[in-house]
Amino acid sequence: MPRTAARKDRFDDAYVDTLHDLSDGSVHRRFDPYIDIDWDAPDLALTAGDPRWVLPPALDPLGATQWYRDLPLERQIEIGRWRITNTIKVGAAFESILIRGMMQYIMKLPNNSPEFRYCLHEMTEECNHIQMFQELINRIGADVPGMRPRFRRMSPLIGVLGGYAHTILFIGILGGEEPIDHFQKAVLREGATLPPAVLRTMQIHIAEEARHISFAHEFLHAHIAGLSPARKRVYALAFPIAMRWLVGEIFGPSKGFAKQFAVPEEVMREAFWRSAYSRALLSDYFAEMRTLADDLGLMTRTSRRLWRRLHIDGAPARYRGEPTRAARATL
Ligand SMILES: [Fe+2]
Ligand SMILES: [Fe+2]
Repeated sequence: MPRTAARKDRFDDAYVDTLHDLSDGSVHRRFDPYIDIDWDAPDLALTAGDPRWVLPPALDPLGATQWYRDLPLERQIEIGRWRITNTIKVGAAFESILIRGMMQYIMKLPNNSPEFRYCLHEMTEECNHIQMFQELINRIGADVPGMRPRFRRMSPLIGVLGGYAHTILFIGILGGEEPIDHFQKAVLREGATLPPAVLRTMQIHIAEEARHISFAHEFLHAHIAGLSPARKRVYALAFPIAMRWLVGEIFGPSKGFAKQFAVPEEVMREAFWRSAYSRALLSDYFAEMRTLADDLGLMTRTSRRLWRRLHIDGAPARYRGEPTRAARATL
């Protein structure tokens, strides 16, 4: 990209070069849900009674409960199909919040901003993801609501506010992208037997999310590096709060779900997130985020305590994409 004098942002050349590489990646390696998925292929057919909808206990905190495992197979399938589809719907809704916040943010940027260009590539990809996931949901045929009612009502405001508080917005973006990415990678790595159409969308999503997550990491490094210690202390606390809040919104089902499927209250509590297993799963989602918070200088004594109180503390990841085993060890 020509580094013209009109660019008025304050970023160093390494960040600008990374954004250029990421933008280039978006141009040359991208997916279209209606070109790259053969929706009508017989092996991608989706049926309501498919036993592959049963929730894998190694990946899902509800699927790991004795209550769920003791249910008749048809009921396990019914609940699994609903829960997996609803999580997909929540993921797509989350992407819509990201787009709204990011659009607000980039419209403030100067001409020639490399962030402007990359963010638009990312929003284009997120539009494709929403379309891909909604097509999948329509074909699954489970009429799921997606986000919990309060979060759904708040979601348009989150995007607008995020445009004003862009560092918090990007922490929140990671808070959504990271657990979903962690879950999807674990599904593919464990070879979970979900229906192939679901696996295909996850493969595509993981490939593009790698870029989005890299960008969010770089963005936070660039925007947090020069901040005053006082502001860093605020972000040090905001970071774990955003992570814990968003993972609850993404994976925690609503009261309506518990009522619809007569899930006993104590089972809901055990699965979300009181049992040793579900707590380990919760902590696993954020190994890479703990490393990032540390790198950003946001692991202060106080914030460390907060990570622990929110049950998302644990060992940091040694490298990007490191598989975590803590949750499985407790099964
Ligand atoms: Fe996405
Ligand atoms: Fe993304």
